[in-house]
Amino acid sequence: MTNPPPTIAWIGDASTGHLQLIDQTLLPVEYRELRCTTVEIVWEAIKTLRVRGAPAIGVSAAYGVIVGCQSARSLSISEFRDRLKQVVQYLAESRPTAVNLFWALDRMQRTADESMGLSSPELLERLFVEATNIENEDRAMCAAIGRFGKPLLSGCSGVLTHCNTGGLATAGDGTALAVIFAAAAENPALKVYADETRPLLQGARLTAWELMQRQIPVTLICDSMAGWVMHEGRVQAVIVGADRIAANGDSANKIGTYSLSILAKAHNIPFYVAAPSSTFDLTIESGKQIPIEERASTEITHSFGRQTAPEGCGTYNPAFDVAPATHISALITEKGVIQPVTSTRIREVLQS
Ligand code: MRU
Repeated sequence: MTNPPPTIAWIGDASTGHLQLIDQTLLPVEYRELRCTTVEIVWEAIKTLRVRGAPAIGVSAAYGVIVGCQSARSLSISEFRDRLKQVVQYLAESRPTAVNLFWALDRMQRTADESMGLSSPELLERLFVEATNIENEDRAMCAAIGRFGKPLLSGCSGVLTHCNTGGLATAGDGTALAVIFAAAAENPALKVYADETRPLLQGARLTAWELMQRQIPVTLICDSMAGWVMHEGRVQAVIVGADRIAANGDSANKIGTYSLSILAKAHNIPFYVAAPSSTFDLTIESGKQIPIEERASTEITHSFGRQTAPEGCGTYNPAFDVAPATHISALITEKGVIQPVTSTRIREVLQS
């Protein structure tokens, strides 16, 4: 088994180092590393999905704070703190739906607020430790999600997934894909059906690539084939990740997830959502309050550089949708499996 290269890496020390990412917009055709030496490069990388997936966005933003504050290291502590606020606010405007971004930025800001009496270089060091903690914790969360989720896929000969939720979307092995990796290690015959995931093809370009790297049998399908694949009995479970989960369990994920949750219900197939606790937003009651990112119409009309719709054609391009809690058989977190999906059970497991 070949391990995929790290999606996110910090190169060097806190004061002169930089964030290194894999440019995911080029995969699977080209593997190129991206040196993020300024906060503007980090912002652009998040905005344009060079780095994407809720947990990976959070970890990258935490390191983006370090990159953005390095130049303020020689300034007074009050100037350093002003710069930190600007950087946090700036990065928070990169993408709206994945709560992991705001969770990581809040954590960085809180660390600074709780670290009074330090000089600017000392505070930069303290923030760097926090960013590293966020990365390491994410890796551990992925491993735990894989362990907790694995039994839910035992007995399956086929499983369907959507978008990309693996090593490219996190600092570790992933969320939904971590469960699939763990299940496939015990059942090498497990067949994974990967939705291509229109319009940006994270399933085709990234999930199929990751599964093939690990020699796990993957069958790529167009999103519109999912219902028929279920009807034919090819999959016994659907498992996806999430970008934000409300207090009642409503889960926002890549556009197409809502339809999948309905299809799974109609075919009596369990529908699982795997996500770390950093993806839960307990400040909002339901999915109605989750901000849904709308992206450029060219993602639909000019897919990958080729015009695929008539000039001037109107479009609607929401990047995410919300699977209602009532369609979700279980939420798989690093703290355990939440089943049934109710507000009470969510709070019990997350606070455990
Ligand atoms: O627009 P993207 O590629 O960032 O969307 C990613 C997803 O929807 C993933 O399913 C989600 O972030 C979970 S990643 C472990």
